[in-house]
Amino acid sequence: MQVAGKLVGREGCVVGVDLQELTPSLEMPNVKSIVGDFTDDLVIRSAMDALGRKAEVVLSDAAPKTTGIKATDRAKEETLLQSVVSTLPNVLDKGGDFLMKLLDCPEAQNISNDLRTSFDRTTGIGLKATRKGSKERYFLARGYRG
Ligand SMILES: C[S@@+](CC[C@H](N)C(=O)[O-])C[C@H]1O[C@@H](n2cnc3c(N)ncnc32)[C@H](O)[C@@H]1O
Repeated sequence: MQVAGKLVGREGCVVGVDLQELTPSLEMPNVKSIVGDFTDDLVIRSAMDALGRKAEVVLSDAAPKTTGIKATDRAKEETLLQSVVSTLPNVLDKGGDFLMKLLDCPEAQNISNDLRTSFDRTTGIGLKATRKGSKERYFLARGYRG
């Protein structure tokens, strides 16, 4: 949110949603933080009210609390990613871009594959900064078709 706030500048607006409060809080006039569950319609509505219009970019680094039990964690990841994706029609403007963190597993791959037809261009990204052995990947999709 801090980096995005700098990138969009004074004219732009960044709204972040997390179950946990941001600490320390960000003292940036163009960045708003909402504490809540993004699967709750009311929380999404307040995020959209704060933004004032649909977003040009949606970034998600939402992640479930993992248990260490593979099957459980994959199921939790699948449910979370599906929830993120299902908010897109309400929050992302046509032509907009979407970046989503995911833990590489067949369930996440299926969700990314299903999303490909909703965007003009999509790609999977692995970051150099990602810890060795981590399953963290990013899915970048540009040009939302709505
Ligand atoms: C990997 S952390 C990233 C947190 C933060 N963006 C950062 O960079 O430190 C994943 C975050 O997803 C949040 N999260 C998971 N499920 C959520 C939900 N349903 N609604 C809102 N936030 C959620 C968690 O509270 C957690 O803070």
